[in-house]
Amino acid sequence: QSEAGRATREPPIWKGRITFVMAAAGSAVGLGNIWKFPYIVGENGGGAFVLVYLACILLFGVPLLMAEIGLGRATRANAFSAFKQLSARSKASSQWKWVGGLGIVTSYLILSFYIVVAGWCLYYFVVTVSGDFTQSGQTLTQADTGARFDGVLASPVLLIVASTTFLLTVFLIVASGIKNGIEKSVNWMMPSLMVMLVLLAIYSAQNGMFMKAFDFLFSPDFSKLTLESVLIAVGHSFFTLSLASGSMVTYGAYMNDSASIGKTALAVAGIDTMVALTAGLAIFPLIFAHGLEPTSGPGLMFISLPLIFEQMPFGQIFGAAFFFLMFIAALTSGVSLMEPTVAWLEQQFSMKRLSAAFLTTVSLCAMSLLSAFSFNIWDAKWLFGMSFFDGLDFLTANVFMTIVALATALFCGYCLKPEQLQQMFGHQSRIIPVFTFSMRFVAPAFVGLMVYAAF
Ligand code: PHE
Ligand code: NA
Repeated sequence: QSEAGRATREPPIWKGRITFVMAAAGSAVGLGNIWKFPYIVGENGGGAFVLVYLACILLFGVPLLMAEIGLGRATRANAFSAFKQLSARSKASSQWKWVGGLGIVTSYLILSFYIVVAGWCLYYFVVTVSGDFTQSGQTLTQADTGARFDGVLASPVLLIVASTTFLLTVFLIVASGIKNGIEKSVNWMMPSLMVMLVLLAIYSAQNGMFMKAFDFLFSPDFSKLTLESVLIAVGHSFFTLSLASGSMVTYGAYMNDSASIGKTALAVAGIDTMVALTAGLAIFPLIFAHGLEPTSGPGLMFISLPLIFEQMPFGQIFGAAFFFLMFIAALTSGVSLMEPTVAWLEQQFSMKRLSAAFLTTVSLCAMSLLSAFSFNIWDAKWLFGMSFFDGLDFLTANVFMTIVALATALFCGYCLKPEQLQQMFGHQSRIIPVFTFSMRFVAPAFVGLMVYAAF
């Protein structure tokens, strides 16, 4: 390994395999699994969509995850310089660095609307803890909780206070650094999240219509599958694994050299998929048991779950645990969404971590206002005929991520030299042929299909 090609300031490295898996799984498991996955499954008709999604994860999600972790570890640099250094070493065009650059921009933009949704979780946590839902005296109806959610969206102040609180928590963790902040927090947050989610799923299986939910999630009806659904499944497979956003490249830079990239990527994708499916199995039985529609979109859980928590025994505790769980899941992802920008500022401009995190947080706070205002005082439909919030979600998850994912695959498949791949995978070099095949053909084919579906 050439020391000269590496970043001037070497980042700290996570010890052992478990911490990296926790951090990467913490990044992957987020609002994408618990909030977005159930509602897009609902909107896209269930089983067939889930099957396409699972195929995406296996066929190119895992290989791309390996690629990104490897790019980071081979350079120990932020996403922008990782591509820059590797293209220099392989004599490829230095313009590849913009792939890393667009990844960083993508994570930054995602964080600007991610914190708004995380703010909803925080608000619903506070409301549930205070017993506002459960002690209202009369039985709630869907109209009540719907009006409540609309009320949240209509209040810029509430949205801003909630999302800024979340953002400041992310700031504190990122500013504390890789070891003191990120490593320490994921080590207890990830296990508690799993325990809470499993408890909720067990409750839901006993009290809800489990079989109907199981059918909905797992028996495919391909007549419901449209090209647009396929597009959404491909985009979501990037989003849910934190791919094409610089996050996994950046975390890869902190992975120790002896850990196996292939096993790690499988573990992370496995955990992410299990959490998404468990979230589905926790939510849909209750949705069906209460005669609610699975197709109600982004508000699915914020409108229907409070109804359910109000009626179930110990609903206040369960409800509070659930929204706290969402908050934790969002937090570990939020940290990984801020880290690419902070690592880039640190390395590119020799900034101190605290200043880099501060600058990122302040500018994000301003950016997030656009998303928050697009629900109330600024309802212009200017981005692809969508509100700013929806448009930004579409632009990042479906457009930018597609470009970055495709370019990353082509870069690994066609530009990297065999000895660079060898260095990326270390003693696991047996998987290189399979990996290269996926990067050259499988991933581009799926992304091509997605672009075709879009136009
Ligand atoms: N994977 C996260 C989720 O599912 C979101 C995320 C995307 C995090 C990109 C980091 C980078 O919620
Ligand atoms: Na995810």
